[in-house]
Amino acid sequence: MLTEAPRGTNDLLPDRSPVWRRVEAEIAELCRLYAYRELRTPIFEHTELFQRGVGETTDIVEKEMYTFTDRGGRSITLRPEITAGLVRAYLEHRLDTGPQPTKLYCVGPGFRYERPQAGRFRQFTQWDVEVFGAADPAVDAEVIEIGVALVRRLGLEGLVVRLNSIGCPRCRGAYRGRLRDYYRPLLAGLCPSCQSRFERNPLRLLDCKEEACRPVARRAPRMLDSLCDECRVHFAAVQERLRALAVPYEIDTGIVRGLDYYTRTVFEVTYPPLGAQNAIWGGGRYDGLIETLGGSSTPGVGFALGIERLVMTLEKTNLLGEADRGIDVFVAPMQQEQSPAALQLLYRLRRAGLAAETDYLGRSLKGQMKLINRLGARYAAIIGPEEALRGAVALREMRTGEQREVAAEAVVQAVAGAAGEQ
Ligand code: HAM
Repeated sequence: MLTEAPRGTNDLLPDRSPVWRRVEAEIAELCRLYAYRELRTPIFEHTELFQRGVGETTDIVEKEMYTFTDRGGRSITLRPEITAGLVRAYLEHRLDTGPQPTKLYCVGPGFRYERPQAGRFRQFTQWDVEVFGAADPAVDAEVIEIGVALVRRLGLEGLVVRLNSIGCPRCRGAYRGRLRDYYRPLLAGLCPSCQSRFERNPLRLLDCKEEACRPVARRAPRMLDSLCDECRVHFAAVQERLRALAVPYEIDTGIVRGLDYYTRTVFEVTYPPLGAQNAIWGGGRYDGLIETLGGSSTPGVGFALGIERLVMTLEKTNLLGEADRGIDVFVAPMQQEQSPAALQLLYRLRRAGLAAETDYLGRSLKGQMKLINRLGARYAAIIGPEEALRGAVALREMRTGEQREVAAEAVVQAVAGAAGEQ
């Protein structure tokens, strides 16, 4: 138990961390280019925020939240997603009084008590992007495009943008009735979860993955045929913008999303080779959410991308990005007596911006050379009694084995100069 992490969690080991850092750096740079500002919310919130925001009848709220009562007697939930917290922060800090629309992003963990499998975890990491205060279809297109821009920057291909519109509360009400009329005579042959969705959340019937239910869902009436005029015009305009931005997409009327706040545009971006959990990101418009959470009527649109799934995809396609630069110089005193000189050089190198390391286990020079090879350091700065007397080091380039004497003050220059030539 003590040496095993809880099910559904991951340790990001040092070997894989450079890929994550590359992804996170690209995200920060893209958000800067597209004028999104970072807002970090806490990883727990009042439970009610998610009950009202994500929706009482969703799988997330019904069975997946990590909810507990804290010592003060309040019900607290580890965030299962980031959107609701960002809306809360936007309202709490009156960001609506700043320049509009408010464009925000956040990268951080989310928690859902789901059955773990490849690509599905109980703690996962999302890049969340939200725009509050703009109803323009150009913004729907922008939030779809920025995700595509990220994967393009990372060199990834083969993703499919699936797009749908689930209308507004007005046209969806009539559609729900039509959907129930279609499903009512077929209910007996469907899975138990579809039977319970029929009453509580009929749109989710379209999302069922059970073999027996899928053909029934495929033949169901389509929301797209029931859109009101405003929703139809909006959907056409989103597509027009996507074409203008050269973002390929497919219409997929089966995309309904697992959270209740969506209106009009919904989308998911999948990478089919990932298997069952192949949605790398998803999102859409939610013009009623901010009002539901206590704000004035304010449109919103956004998405969240699962960084674990993106990294899995990068690894599958061998797009690992650059490995860590590693250690520039390993400072190796031959004997205990040269340790003070070694320490001085070590910190001189670090302060000059070079990655430097030394031995802390009293190894022989031979032992240190072995370690240097394992660490993959570029240079060894060896200090023996002779060198110490002269204030010098034997600087060895590990790749070539070439070694020359360099004054201790000149090591930074020798190493940095060589890096500049590479
Ligand atoms: P979501 O579709 O529930 O949407 O999650 C978005 C992404 O987070 C998924 O496509 C997936 O990559 C990742 N994800 C979710 N759950 C897990 C899990 N258990 N394990 C690994 N990855 C996971 C939302 O969360 C919405 N808040 C998105 C949004 C923002 N809509 C509008 N604004």
